Amino acid sequence: MNKTIAVIRGDGIGPEIVGEAIKVLDAVAAKFGHSFTYQEAPMGGCAIDQFGVPLPDSSLETCLKADSVLLGAVGGPKWDAQPSANRPERGLLKLRASMGLYTNVRPARMFQDLAAACPLRSDIAAKGIDFVVVRELIGGVYFGDHSTTDENGEKKAVDIMSYTEHEVRRVAHVAFQMARKRRRRVTSVDKANVLDTSRLWRKVVTEVAQEYPDVELLHMYVDNAAMQIVRDPSQFDVLVTENLFGDILSDEASQITGSIGMIPSSSMGEGTNGLYEPIHGSAPDIAGQNKANPIGTILAAAMMLRYSFDMPTEADAIEHAVDETLKSGHRCGDILQSGGTLVTCTEMGSQIVSRI
Ligand code: IPM
Ligand code: MG
Repeated sequence: MNKTIAVIRGDGIGPEIVGEAIKVLDAVAAKFGHSFTYQEAPMGGCAIDQFGVPLPDSSLETCLKADSVLLGAVGGPKWDAQPSANRPERGLLKLRASMGLYTNVRPARMFQDLAAACPLRSDIAAKGIDFVVVRELIGGVYFGDHSTTDENGEKKAVDIMSYTEHEVRRVAHVAFQMARKRRRRVTSVDKANVLDTSRLWRKVVTEVAQEYPDVELLHMYVDNAAMQIVRDPSQFDVLVTENLFGDILSDEASQITGSIGMIPSSSMGEGTNGLYEPIHGSAPDIAGQNKANPIGTILAAAMMLRYSFDMPTEADAIEHAVDETLKSGHRCGDILQSGGTLVTCTEMGSQIVSRI
């Protein structure tokens, strides 16, 4: 198959990790007889430097026309002084909205070979960590009106959180369908004891659940969920929640696996074109030093093959190569606590390529 992939290398360690993911994709293409064409789409701080805006129209168009989008990471302290409407993150938010990517899937899985890097008590970790955060991605407070005004001699800032029923319903369906392929349990996270948006969220999710009688539905307040994730993560299978709660809980969930550098994510809407990226950020402190762990991005490429290109065998090949590489003891700095030999970003990529 021929596929066009828009490539957003981004800032910080972005270009390094994306380079390794492309190495792996090329190895897959060669082995399985596909051809992947890469089209560069500058976004983030580098686009601000080059074009004055975080997401130039030409990049957006490249992403919209592609079969799928691969992203490294955007942002960094260099662009902190940018006005809020022109920050690197704005490019990402605009891209998500323009592509209609309402579902963000972030697996929190502890790799058995890396159990020693898990920061939780060993009796908790021993029960296993394998759940998925399904985060609503283009609604809620992220996309409500934002304003800062002067009132009675001081500044006042307002951010509106809003949800419509259809915005909740479509992401709820994704969560239930995913649960059907897993352990058939959905935990819907909200703050229905305080927020109207959460009460609507809970009502719609409960309605959608009627269509999935084979899936168990639990509701949990977000503060409790934050606690339960560290108290007993084994209770979660699919956790579905709104945009801001999902942003926060998915960082927490990734950290307890002990390997934030290893976790991929997908963002999808109605079509097959999706956005795939590692869940970690641009790590400016180690940028350009060939130290970053490319596995999150490489596993994001595997997700792309599985979900956007319907290439499950090829995706398996990547995931298997990653597992084998870890088994043979190769480690980047972020996962070195679990023992093994320290390798560079490019070496990690090559080790994985050699096992495709
Ligand atoms: C994420 C990031 C983004 C978000 C930022 C960079 C806008 O934290 O993908 O989780 O808040 O969605
Ligand atoms: Mg985040």
